[in-house]
Amino acid sequence: PPKRKAQQPDERPVDAAEGKLQTSSLLTTAQGVRLADTDHSLKAGPRGPSLMDDFHLREKITHFDHERIPERVVHARGAAAHGTFTAYGNAGSVTRAGFLQRGRETPVFVRFSTVLGSRGSADTVRDVRGFATKFYTDEGNFDLVGNNMPVFFIQDGIKFPDIIHAGKPHPDREIPQAQTAHDTFWDFVSLHTEATHHVMWAMSDRGIPRSFRTMEGFGVHTFRLVNAKDETCLVKFHWKPVAGIHSLVWEEAQIAAGADPDFHRRDLADGIDAGVPLEFELGLQIMPDSDDQTFEGIDLLDPTKIVPEELCEVQLVGKLSLDRNPTNYFAETEQVAFHTGNLVPGIEVTDDPLMQARLFSYLDTQLTRLGGPNFTQLPINCPHAGVNDNLRDGMHQTAVHRGIAPYLPNSLGQEGEPVPADEGAFVHVPREVSGPKVRANPASFADHFSQAALFWASMTAIEQAHIVEAFTFELSKCYEQPIRERMLGVLANVATDLCTAVAAGLGMPAPSGTPVVDPTPSPALSQLVDTPGPIA
Ligand code: HEM
Repeated sequence: PPKRKAQQPDERPVDAAEGKLQTSSLLTTAQGVRLADTDHSLKAGPRGPSLMDDFHLREKITHFDHERIPERVVHARGAAAHGTFTAYGNAGSVTRAGFLQRGRETPVFVRFSTVLGSRGSADTVRDVRGFATKFYTDEGNFDLVGNNMPVFFIQDGIKFPDIIHAGKPHPDREIPQAQTAHDTFWDFVSLHTEATHHVMWAMSDRGIPRSFRTMEGFGVHTFRLVNAKDETCLVKFHWKPVAGIHSLVWEEAQIAAGADPDFHRRDLADGIDAGVPLEFELGLQIMPDSDDQTFEGIDLLDPTKIVPEELCEVQLVGKLSLDRNPTNYFAETEQVAFHTGNLVPGIEVTDDPLMQARLFSYLDTQLTRLGGPNFTQLPINCPHAGVNDNLRDGMHQTAVHRGIAPYLPNSLGQEGEPVPADEGAFVHVPREVSGPKVRANPASFADHFSQAALFWASMTAIEQAHIVEAFTFELSKCYEQPIRERMLGVLANVATDLCTAVAAGLGMPAPSGTPVVDPTPSPALSQLVDTPGPIA
C-alpha cells in the first residue's frame, strides 16, 4: 500500500491579534447562523416564560457564564506590552543563545504585575512587582520570569505556599493585609529570618515604584550560560530602566491607590499610545562557573543573596523597547503563560532550590488556569520558531494534526527526526551530580542578616527614613505584640539604629541583649558595609 502522507508541522498564528474568529460582518451565533434580534428572548407571549428552544438565549448566557478563568494564584494583577529586544552582540562570547548575538532583533511580550493582590486590586500598593519577559526567539521561547527586587523571601521553593499563605488576604474575611491586620505576614517573616533581606527591599522605596518604566528587573537566581565551545559561566540577569529608577513616596502611593487604582497600567498604556516606549537594557553579571558555585564568598545558589555590583559589574548586552499595547487584555495579558523552564540553547538553570521548585510549579498551575495541556497553542504563547512536537489531543486542542501516529523512531515517513547537537538542539551541559539524599540546606544558607545589613548601610538618610516609616506603619497594623517584639529582634540583627527608630515609632522598647549572630559574611562583603551593624 502507498505510504500515508508524512506529518506536517502545524500552522499556528503568531500573534493574538491575528487569532481572529470574527469572519462575518453580520451578527451570527457561534455556529454562524444569522440573527435578526439579540435583545429579546423567545417567550410564550410578551409576558410569558422563556422557552427552552431559544438556542440564542442559551448560547449567549452560557458562554457569558464561562467568560472568566481562574486568576493566577500569585501575580494576579498585571499589565503588559509587546516590543522588541535588540542584542548588542557582546554576549556572544559567553552564550550561544541566538537572540543575544550581534544585531539580532527578537519580538518580546512583557507582563508587569503585583504579587499578592487580586486582579482588581490597586496598582500602587507596597508589594514586589513581577517583570516577566517572553522572548519569541528563532530557537524557541525563552522566558525570563523575574521581579523588581533581586532577592527572594525564601531559599527553598517548598516554602512558597507558606510565604504566600502568610501574605495573602485573611481566609475568613478576604481583606487584604495591606490595609488591615498584618499579623500573619509578620509572624512568618519574624519566625523565618531568611526573609529579612527581601523584607528590607520590600519596606524600601523599591516596594512602591513610580511607574513600570522606572523599575529595575532581576532574574534573581543564578543561571548558567553555555557558549559555542561548551564553556560555561554563571550569571545573574538584570533589567536597567533607561528612564532611571524612581519610586513614589508613601503618601503619593496611598492617594494614587484611591484616586486611580489603575495608575501603573494607565501610565504604561498611555505612554505607549503617546509614542514613548518603555526602555530597559539587559545586563549580565558574569562569574566563573566554579566547583563550589560561590563568588567572593557569596553562595550563588542562595536566592536571598545579591552579588554587589561593586564586586561584579553589570555588563549591558541588549536593549528592550516596549512600544505596542495588547489588542485584547484577555487573549494576551491574561492568557500569557510564563515558565522558568522555557529555556533556549545557551541558557541553563542552576541548582538553586527555589528555582528547582519553580521549574515544576509554572506548568503545573497553568494546566489548571488555562484549562489543560494545549495552552502553547494560544496565539500569545505560540513560539515564533517552527514547532513539530509529538504532543497530541487533550482539552482545547485546536490543531488538526495530519498523518500517522506520532512516535519515534519511525520508519513510516514521519517528519521530525531529532536534531544533531551541533545543529541548534538544546543539549544540557554535562555536570557531575552527587550527594546523599537529604532534606537540608548548605551551611552558607544560615547567613540571614549580612546582606540585609549591607542593604541598610547602602541607603541615603532619606531612604533610611522611608524604610523606618514603612516598618513603623506596617508593624503598627500587626496587632499581636509578641510578633512585633520578635520582628524588632530581627531588625536588631540588621542595624541597631534601624531597630531603635522603628521601636520608637511603635512606642515600644528596643530589644535588649545580644542580637543573634550568624556566620561571618565574606571578607569582600564586610568591606562594603560602611556602617557596620551589630553583626559585623
Ligand atoms: C507567577 C516571579 C518564585 C510560583 C509569577 C509571575 C512572576 C513570578 C513574574 C507572574 C507571571 C505572569 O506575569 O504571568 C517569581 C520570582 C520568584 C518566584 C522572581 C522567585 C525568585 C516562585 C516560586 C513558585 C512560584 C518559588 C512556586 C514554587 C508561581 C506561580 C505563578 C507565578 C504558580 C502563577 C503563574 C501563572 O498562573 O501563570 N512568578 N516567582 N513562583 N509564580 Fe512565581
